[in-house]
Amino acid sequence: MLVALMWPGPVSLAAVGEKQLLAQPQRIPAWLRAGAIRPAQIPDPHWREEACTTCHRAPLNVARPRRRFRDTERLCGFCHDQGKDHVHVHPVGIAVSRRLLKGMNPGLREHLQGRAGRPRLGCLTCHDIRVQCRRENFRERKLRHAFLRGGPYRSRTGLCYACHPRRAYARLDAHAQVDAHGQVITNTCLLCHRKVPRQLSDGRAVDTELVVPDRYSQLCLNCHEVLPHPGGDLVFLDKGGPNHLVRPPPGIARYMEKMATRNGLILPREEDSGEIYCATCHNPHARGVIRNPRAARGADEPKRLRARFLCENCHDL
Ligand code: HEC
Ligand code: HEC
Ligand code: HEC
Ligand code: HEC
Ligand code: HEC
Ligand code: HEC
Ligand code: HEC
Ligand code: HEC
Repeated sequence: MLVALMWPGPVSLAAVGEKQLLAQPQRIPAWLRAGAIRPAQIPDPHWREEACTTCHRAPLNVARPRRRFRDTERLCGFCHDQGKDHVHVHPVGIAVSRRLLKGMNPGLREHLQGRAGRPRLGCLTCHDIRVQCRRENFRERKLRHAFLRGGPYRSRTGLCYACHPRRAYARLDAHAQVDAHGQVITNTCLLCHRKVPRQLSDGRAVDTELVVPDRYSQLCLNCHEVLPHPGGDLVFLDKGGPNHLVRPPPGIARYMEKMATRNGLILPREEDSGEIYCATCHNPHARGVIRNPRAARGADEPKRLRARFLCENCHDL
């Protein structure tokens, strides 16, 4: 009796092979429930020559393929409802508000699902499934993460702003200084500089005054909390770790200058106090903004660091 209760029901298929799963995706939910397959066995049909007919009718007419399942969400759901892996990324099926509809990127608006007059979000609104249909795209698989419509995007949130107003959601990013066309976004400069700095043909920069007269780290601390920080706490209080925001003793100051010249970079310090501050180690500028190659080092590099082996520019290790 007990054995019967624990038995996962009549499983006629001892083992369902991948071929069969790809041929009959509509049976995947039932096979899973019956224990004939495990979730890990759900086959991946994307970007695959031999799996076109999981979604299209066989034999495949590449010129005019016909879909096997009218309801796209149902098709995707055969495989993707199972682990509920995606429920957190975005709700689907919801109606689109007028306001959002107006602001939406037309490229996405076109792909809303549902009847005219009552557009709603579907999987294909955001996922351009056709990208993975084309053989010539297969090489791009890694680049086209989740075949997001209009992608690839530089950041995970890129797609979101095709529909949601960027201003309502974006964390102000002081380092977004160059637009998609390579043009410098001069408004951003004014977060830190009094005027938009200019760079002369001889490499000199003018109008670089900062919006704070001293304690330059304030520029960054409005947006960044940096505790704990590499090399120890950067607490300006008196506990723990080396406080790097200090005026370097003469030995280190000389060493910094020597290394900066040797390594072709700058290690700027506060003008009046001569103290180290955040931008001594981090370049706050985007690549393409600063023309002087030494001052440009570190722009958009990992953690915006001015050098990969940073410590040895100040410490004689
Ligand atoms: C995961 C399901 C799925 C797989 C796998 C799949 N397709 Fe598609 N395909 C679709 C859907 C859904 C559409 C309709 C897209 C739309 O309406 O925007 C489509 C559309 C197409 C179109 C018409 C799009 C156009 O550009 O006009 C072609 C051609 C196509 N698929 C070929 C293929 C080929 C060839 C393969 C195999 C290499 C394949 N598909 C694999 C789901 C799939
Ligand atoms: C036959 C099962 C099956 C069907 C049908 C299916 N998928 Fe998938 N899909 C998978 C599997 C398996 C993966 C790989 C998951 C993983 O690696 O975690 C995947 C991956 C994906 C990914 C990420 C791929 C990447 O390149 O990053 C997206 C997005 C996706 N599917 C969307 C869809 C959409 C939209 C549909 C419906 C048009 C659909 N899938 C239909 C099984 C399926
Ligand atoms: C509003 C846009 C949007 C809609 C609608 C949407 N997705 Fe996604 N989906 C995304 C984004 C963005 C990602 C990439 C998340 C990331 O970077 O990890 C994603 C990732 C995925 C992945 C890859 C799994 C992962 O977490 O990386 C799968 C599978 C997937 N979506 C399936 C679906 C299915 C199935 C539907 C319809 C039921 C759907 N998506 C509807 C935006 C959407
Ligand atoms: C294709 C358009 C589209 C894209 C792309 C999109 N959304 Fe949405 N999102 C909607 C719609 C439509 C609603 C329903 C609310 C409405 O109409 O105002 C919504 C609602 C939401 C909500 C619920 C809160 C609210 O404002 O009502 C959140 C949170 C959300 N989206 C986050 C995201 C994120 C994060 C991304 C990027 C991964 C994203 N959206 C991409 C269309 C989109
Ligand atoms: C987050 C704060 C911040 C923003 C935003 C910012 N800067 Fe700066 N900028 C600084 C700091 C700090 C310095 C001094 C240290 C240095 O040279 O990197 C500086 C120095 C400069 C210099 C002198 C570099 C050299 O040759 O020595 C130029 C030129 C400059 N910025 C241009 C710009 C422009 C143009 C923008 C807008 C696209 C901009 N900055 C945005 C903080 C910022
Ligand atoms: C207006 C807000 C703002 C200001 C001011 C600001 N930042 Fe940022 N910073 C951001 C945002 C948003 C990101 C994340 C986006 C990115 O990675 O480009 C970031 C990323 C960074 C990173 C990379 C973090 C990582 O994990 O890769 C560093 C380092 C950094 N900022 C240093 C600075 C320094 C130094 C200053 C002052 C000269 C500064 N920031 C001023 C908003 C700001
Ligand atoms: C003495 C050099 C130095 C100074 C000064 C410095 N940093 Fe850093 N910072 C680093 C290094 C090195 C890393 C990278 C650590 C890593 O890769 O784990 C880092 C990492 C960061 C990160 C990324 C944190 C993360 O989560 O990965 C931010 C943001 C940052 N610093 C902001 C600041 C701010 C703001 C200041 C000024 C208050 C500052 N830093 C001063 C050397 C410095
Ligand atoms: C821009 C120059 C600079 C960089 C880069 C730098 N330091 Fe320092 N470091 C200093 C200065 C200045 C002091 C304070 C020395 C003093 O007051 O005698 C210091 C002090 C220290 C101390 C305390 C040592 C002592 O003698 O009290 C440690 C530990 C330390 N740094 C580790 C690091 C590490 C690890 C890195 C790389 C992540 C690093 N530093 C990068 C300039 C720098």
